[in-house]
Amino acid sequence: MNRIGAIYPGTFDPVTNGHLDIIERSSRLFARVIVAILVNPQKETLFSVEERRHLLVRSIPEEISNVEVDVFRGLLVDYARQRQAGIIIRGIRAVSDYEYELQMALMNRRLEPSIETFFMLPAENYSYLSSRLVRELAQNSGSLEGLVPELVAKALEEKYGRTR
Ligand code: PNS
Repeated sequence: MNRIGAIYPGTFDPVTNGHLDIIERSSRLFARVIVAILVNPQKETLFSVEERRHLLVRSIPEEISNVEVDVFRGLLVDYARQRQAGIIIRGIRAVSDYEYELQMALMNRRLEPSIETFFMLPAENYSYLSSRLVRELAQNSGSLEGLVPELVAKALEEKYGRTR
C-alpha cells in the first residue's frame, strides 16, 4: 500500500477551521491528501453531500495543491484500497475523542492491516470546536467568527433562514 497517499475522512457537516487546520498540517506531511466525505444515507446531515463538497473545495486555500476532495460510500478501508492510500488521518481534540477513534482505528486495522491510522492534533484554539457545536451556534445566532470560513458562516446562516 502506498505510504505517500493519505486519506482524511469525515462527515464535514460543515467543514470547520479545525478540519482546515488538520488539512493544512497533513498537506505538509504527505505528498497527496484526499479529503473524503462519507455519504451515509443512515445519517441525517444539515448539508447535502454536494454542498459539503462545495464548501470544502472553496475553503481549502488555493496554494495547497496536493489536496483533493472526494466522496465515498461504504467502508473506509475499501475506499482507501481503491485509492491506493495507505494512511488514514484523524484529528483528535480531547481525551473524549480517543475512545471512539481507538475503536475505529483498530477495526480498520483488523479489516486491512496494511493501512495505518495517523492521529493529529489541531491547533489548541480549535480543540473544542466541532461541526455539531458550529451548527448549534448558527441555529441560535451565536457568533461563528474564527470558527469557520466566511463562506461556511454564510451557508449556515442561509440554512437557518437568516441573511447577512
Ligand atoms: O467526521 P466523522 O463523522 O467523525 O467521520 C466518521 C467517519 C466517516 C470517518 C467514519 O464513520 C467512517 O469511516 N465511516 C465509513 C464506514 C467505516 O468504514 N467504518 C469504520 C469501520 S467499522
